Amino acid sequence: MSDIKQTELNARISELESEIKKLKSAKTYGLIWEDKPEDVILQCRDSVPVLREVKNKKIVADPSLPTNLLIEGDNYHSLSVLNYTHRGQFDVIYADPPYNTGNKSWRYNNDYIEKEDEFRHSKWLSYINKRVRLAKNLLSDSGILIFAIDDYEAHTLRLLLDEIMGEDNRLGTVAVVHNPRGRNDDRFFATQHEYMLVYAKDKDKAVLGNFDLTDEERGQYKKSDDISSYSEASFMRTGNNSTPRERPKLFYPIFYNPKTQKLSLKKAKDSIELLPINEAGEEKTWRWGTATFEKLCDTDLFVKTVKGKYRIFKKRRLTDEAGKKPKSIWYNPRYDASTYGIMVLQDIFGRGNHFNYPKSLLLMEDILEVTSKPDSLVLDFFAGSGTTGHAVLNLNERDGGARRFILCTNNENNICEEVTYERIKRVVKGYKDRRGNAVDGVLGNLGYYKTDLVNIEKLQTISDTARLKITYQAGEMIAIREDTLAEKEKNEWWQIFEGHGRSTAIYFREDKLRLGDLVKELNATSNPSTLYVFGWGKNDYKNEYTSPLIRVEDIPEPIIEVYKEINRL
Ligand SMILES: C[S@@+](CC[C@H](N)C(=O)[O-])C[C@H]1O[C@@H](n2cnc3c(N)ncnc32)[C@H](O)[C@@H]1O
Repeated sequence: MSDIKQTELNARISELESEIKKLKSAKTYGLIWEDKPEDVILQCRDSVPVLREVKNKKIVADPSLPTNLLIEGDNYHSLSVLNYTHRGQFDVIYADPPYNTGNKSWRYNNDYIEKEDEFRHSKWLSYINKRVRLAKNLLSDSGILIFAIDDYEAHTLRLLLDEIMGEDNRLGTVAVVHNPRGRNDDRFFATQHEYMLVYAKDKDKAVLGNFDLTDEERGQYKKSDDISSYSEASFMRTGNNSTPRERPKLFYPIFYNPKTQKLSLKKAKDSIELLPINEAGEEKTWRWGTATFEKLCDTDLFVKTVKGKYRIFKKRRLTDEAGKKPKSIWYNPRYDASTYGIMVLQDIFGRGNHFNYPKSLLLMEDILEVTSKPDSLVLDFFAGSGTTGHAVLNLNERDGGARRFILCTNNENNICEEVTYERIKRVVKGYKDRRGNAVDGVLGNLGYYKTDLVNIEKLQTISDTARLKITYQAGEMIAIREDTLAEKEKNEWWQIFEGHGRSTAIYFREDKLRLGDLVKELNATSNPSTLYVFGWGKNDYKNEYTSPLIRVEDIPEPIIEVYKEINRL
C-alpha cells in the first residue's frame, strides 16, 4: 500500500474513532429534563449543613435502647448530614414524596407548583434526582429503597430510579390498593391504587422476606412425615412453559414399582412407566429435572391412584421459613389509607383533619416486615405524619426486634412538631383512642434535631465564642454517627460523648499539646472509645493512638472542612 493511501486510511480511522467516542458519550435512552436550581442546594455551596439538637424534645423510654432520630428541615440538608454520619448504614430507605399533582401540595423554591407550570416535571425531577443520589450513598450493600408514587410521576420516577439504581436492581413495581372505593372525582377511571417502586442497592445481596402464613393457611398443611407437615401438589407441571417443546429436559419417563412403592429413573422388572401426560392426553412436563428427581424422589414424591391411573405427587413442605412471597398487587383492606391512615391519626390526636396523606400503618408494617431484618436501620426522608416510625416501633414490639429509624421531614404547617413528633411521643407513652380506649405505649427513644447551616466563609469573621459553639456543633454530628449522644465533657481542645457503654472523643485542635491527656483520660475509663483527631491529611493518627480500648477514626470530610477553617484562624 502506498504511503498516501496509508495516511488517508489512518485519518479515516481516527475520524471514525472520534465519531464512535461522540456516539458513546451521547445519551441514547433515558430521561432528559431541564435542571432547575434549588435554593436549598445553592446554600450548600459555601455552607455545611449540620444538626442542632432540640434538647427539650428528647424522649427516653429505656436508656439502654438505641435512639431513633427525627430531623426537622429540608431533606436535602438532612440527607447531606446523613452522608457524613450514616453513609452505607441504612438497610431500608422509604420515601413518599409529594406526587406533583398540581393541587397546592408541593412547593419548589417556596412556590406552589401548579398544573399549568410548563416546567413542573423538570422541577420535580430535579428535586427528586438530587435527593435520590444522596440517599443511594446511605444504603448498605444489601439495602433496599422503596418509593411510593402515583400516576402523575410514576413513569418519570421509574426511569429516573432505573438510571440511578440500575434497571437490574429493580426488585418490583407493586400496585397498592390504598383507596378501594375508587376516587370519585376522577373524570374517567376511578383511581384505587398507587405504586411502590422497590430497588436494591445490589440485587445479588438483597433479601426480600416472605409474609408469615396465617393460621388458616398453616392448617392447609394437613399431612406430615418424619421431616415436616406438608400439603400435596401434582408433580406434573401445568400452565405456561409446561410442554416438552418448551422444556424438553423436563419430559422423561419415571418408573414406579407398585410393590415397593419406589420411584426410579431406571426400568426394573415389576415397574410401570409413567409419563407426564394429562387427562386430556396432552404431553406436559414434570416439575423437576432428573438430577433433582434423583435427590428427592424418596423423601418428597409419592404416588396415588386417581381415576384408576397412577399419578405422582410432590410434598409441599411447611418449613420454618415457609411463608408467602410478596405479590405485585397489594389488595387488602389493611392497606386502606383512610381506615388505617387517617383513622389512626384520629385515634392518636382526636377527631379532625391532622394530615392529608398518611399511609396505612399496616401497609408500612407489611413492607417493613419483608424488607427489614430485626436489627435494621430504617430511613424515611419524606416522613410526613411519621407512619414509618410508628410501624418500626410496632414491628419491634411484635417480634422483639431492635430496628431503629431516622425520620426526616420539613415543618410545613408545623407538621414536624405537631404531628410527626407528637405522634411518636404518644405512641411511646400510650394514648386514648377516639373511642376512649387506652392504648399502651411501645418502647422507643427519640432525639429531635433541626438542620442548620454553618457558613464556612463567615467563620473568619465571627467571635471566638461563636466559633467554639460551631466546633461543638460539628462534634455533635460525630456523636450522632456513633450513637453516643450524652455529652460528658467539653473544653477548648476536645469533646467527649457517651452512650450504650461506649465513648466518643473528638480532639479538634491543630496543636496536639493536650492530645496525650485526652488519650490518658480515655484509657482510664473501662469504656471502649472511638477517638477522632483533627489532622490536615487523611488517616494521620490511625496507628498512633489505637489501643485495645481506643479505635481511631477519620473525621468525616465536611466536618474536617469546618475544623480546617477554625484551625486556620
Ligand atoms: C406525602 S407526605 C408523606 C406522608 C407519610 N408517608 C405519612 O404516612 O404520613 C410528604 C411529606 O414530605 C414533606 N416534604 C416535602 N418536601 C420536603 C423536603 N424537601 N424536605 C423535607 N420534607 C419534605 C411534606 O411536608 C410532607 O409532609
